[in-house]
Amino acid sequence: LDAGVGRLPVLGYNTWNAFQCNIDEDLMLNTARLMKSLGLQKAGYEYVNIDDCYSEKNRTSDGYIIEDQVRFKGGMKKLTTAIHKLGFKTGIYSDAGWFTCAGYPGSYGNEDRDIKTFQDWGFTYLKYDNCAIPYDIITQEGIVGRYQRMADAIAKLAKKSKKTPFLYSLCNWGWSQVWIWGKTQGQSWRTTGDISPAWASLANIINFNSFLTQATDFYGRNDLDMLQLGNGNLTFDEAKSHFTAWALMKSPLLIGTDLTKITDETLEILTNREILAINQDPVIGTSISPFRWGFNPDWTYDPLRPAEYWSGPSGKGTVIMMLNVADEPAFMTFNLTESPWLRAGRRYSVRDLWAHTDNGTVIRNITVEAVPAHGVVALLLNDAGSEPKGLEPLCSVL
Ligand code: GLA
Repeated sequence: LDAGVGRLPVLGYNTWNAFQCNIDEDLMLNTARLMKSLGLQKAGYEYVNIDDCYSEKNRTSDGYIIEDQVRFKGGMKKLTTAIHKLGFKTGIYSDAGWFTCAGYPGSYGNEDRDIKTFQDWGFTYLKYDNCAIPYDIITQEGIVGRYQRMADAIAKLAKKSKKTPFLYSLCNWGWSQVWIWGKTQGQSWRTTGDISPAWASLANIINFNSFLTQATDFYGRNDLDMLQLGNGNLTFDEAKSHFTAWALMKSPLLIGTDLTKITDETLEILTNREILAINQDPVIGTSISPFRWGFNPDWTYDPLRPAEYWSGPSGKGTVIMMLNVADEPAFMTFNLTESPWLRAGRRYSVRDLWAHTDNGTVIRNITVEAVPAHGVVALLLNDAGSEPKGLEPLCSVL
């Protein structure tokens, strides 16, 4: 939805993946400070977002959500002011049902009141979850209706307060095919259940979203869920694949690891400027899409083996992603014309977005001898003229 916010994917931080309910004001402020000192802010990460569990379990007697009086004893307003002083924007969380997923007050029936509270607290971004929803049989609203209630509250408040509307991040796990209607309400929508820090989860999410890439554009995009880089036992290559796929599919990129323990390797991945530049492309808002699936050696279908060959346009050239979904290094190759964005008879210059090198030019095909297990290759191709004369003509298979 083009309401003047969220044209590009959000870059920032969210507490859930690393801390779940163990959050307080010190953690939030420290995280913001670390985002700055670690260079993440400079790389473009601008939101610091609180997830579930920040409030008291009950509303006040006159119906307001209040912050947890122990863990956020200074009050949300003071906290967001301090975080804003460091140059960040702030996001908050609520739920389209009676309760949040961790059992805190949800906003159903209190949409106007709660969004105003969040604005008064200094927030400009809302993640809206899908737990404890009322029975549709009684309300007759359905999921679209429940999310629309908050979309309306956001629009109404923006008008009344003469402030920019909240950036609205729908978190309904793909229910009711949100990728079809999410863009009429908000700027991003979760398409799957919760991510976990394991290759199987990442592969599943990539696989599922590979069929929905057409839903993503400026002001509205599939949300592949918050980043797990730095968590669990993801290998360096898995973390690179995770970041590359999320970024090039134009997902919001919300860091979800404990920044006091972040490794140089994870930081290096999160601050890859060439990958981030594609995610934040001001010219083309669409996602890369698969043009060829790999296959199992035994030709059986395996849902944990998502598409391997992807491409798409960008303001800087044609983006290529090659993903090795196998558990061992793979020889990967494709003919340029398999990608709808590359033309026959042309020569292309190749930029490697991970090695940060210009690798000369290619004609006809691209081959990578050994992509590591669960590893990724990300390239930027640009037309460099016609291929040399006198080559054998390209012939078809039959
Ligand atoms: C749901 C969401 C998660 C997180 C938790 C909080 O599971 O999908 O991203 O917000 O709720 O309880």
